[in-house]
Amino acid sequence: MAYPIDAMREAALRALDEVRSSESLVAWRVAHLGRHSPLMNFLGDLGSRPVAERPAAGSAANQAKQALEAALSVKEEALRLQELEHALASEKLDLTLPGRPPQRGRLHPSSQVLRRILAIWAEMGFQVYRSREVESDEYNFQLLNFPPHHPARDMQDTFYTTRAGVILRTHTSPGQVRVMRERCPEPIRVVLPGMCFRYEQVTARAEAQFYQVEGLAVGVGITLANLKATLADFARRMFGASVRVRFRADYFPFTEPSAEMDIECFICGGSGCPVCKRSGWLEILGAGMVHPTVLSNGGYDPRRYSGFAFGMGPERIAMLRHGITDIRAFWANDPRFLEQF
Ligand code: PHE
Repeated sequence: MAYPIDAMREAALRALDEVRSSESLVAWRVAHLGRHSPLMNFLGDLGSRPVAERPAAGSAANQAKQALEAALSVKEEALRLQELEHALASEKLDLTLPGRPPQRGRLHPSSQVLRRILAIWAEMGFQVYRSREVESDEYNFQLLNFPPHHPARDMQDTFYTTRAGVILRTHTSPGQVRVMRERCPEPIRVVLPGMCFRYEQVTARAEAQFYQVEGLAVGVGITLANLKATLADFARRMFGASVRVRFRADYFPFTEPSAEMDIECFICGGSGCPVCKRSGWLEILGAGMVHPTVLSNGGYDPRRYSGFAFGMGPERIAMLRHGITDIRAFWANDPRFLEQF
C-alpha cells in the first residue's frame, strides 16, 4: 500500500538537495520537520485513521522522519565544511605582516658617554672607585686646600645642609683624599665617576646636577710628562687617533701646576666653527699635579710620592659630540630628546 508519506519524503529530500546555505537549511527544517510540516501533520492525524492502518502508517512516518533527520545532519556538516572553506579562502590571514615592535628602552646619553670613558680608562689600567655624593666641607674643600674663607670657593656654588659641615659634593675631587687614605702607601690608578651638585641658576649652560669623572694616579716618580702623555692617549682613544691636544695653564687649589686640556675641534677639524667659537679648540678637562698638601692629607709623603689628577664632564663631552645646545635636556626626561641617542 502506497502512503502519501513516500511522496512527502521524496519531495523533502529533493528540496534538501537544493539547499546551499545554512539560512535556507533552517527554512527547510521548518518546512519539512517543523510542527506544521506535512510529515508532522500526518503523524498528528494518525489517530483519525482506521485502526488497522495505524501501525503501518505510523512506522512509515517514523522511518521517514528519521531519514529526514539523518539527511539533515549530513547536510548540516557538509554546509559547515563548505562555509569554513569559503571563509578560509576569502578572509585571508596574512601571517607575513611584521608585528608591532615593542618599545625598547636604552641607556641615557650621559650613561653612554660615561661608560665609554670608563671603558677607556679601564683599558689603560685605571680602576673605578665610587665615592659618596653627600660630603663634608672638610673633604670637599679643606683637605683639597680650600681653607674656609679662601676665594677659590667662589668657583663652586655649594648646596649646604642644615647640618653643619654636611654638603652635596660640588666635584668628584674629594674622592681623591678618600681613596688615598684607604690605599696609602700603595700606588693608585683610579677613576672616580659620579654625580656632582652646584647651587646654580639653571640655564642652557649650567645645571644644578651633572656627572664628573675624576682621575687620580699616585706613585713614585710620576711627572707632568706622565700626565700629558696619559691624557693625550685618552683623547686619542676617545676622539680618534689623529686628534691633537693642547694644554693651557690654569688654577686649582689642589693641583700645582694646574692645566686645562683642549682637543682640536672634532666638528670643524680645527678650522673654526660655532661649536668651538671659531677657536678650533674645545676645552674638555681640568688637570694638574697633585698638590703636596693634598698628598700629605691623603697620607703620602710628598718628598717621595707624586701624582696627577684630572676631572672631566661627560655631559659636556656629549654636548660637543652631538651638538646639544641646552644642558637642561639631560635631566628633563623628554623621550623626544632621549630617543635620539
Ligand atoms: N674638580 C675640578 C672641577 O670641578 C676639576 C679638576 C679635577 C681639576 C682634578 C684638577 C684635577 O672643576
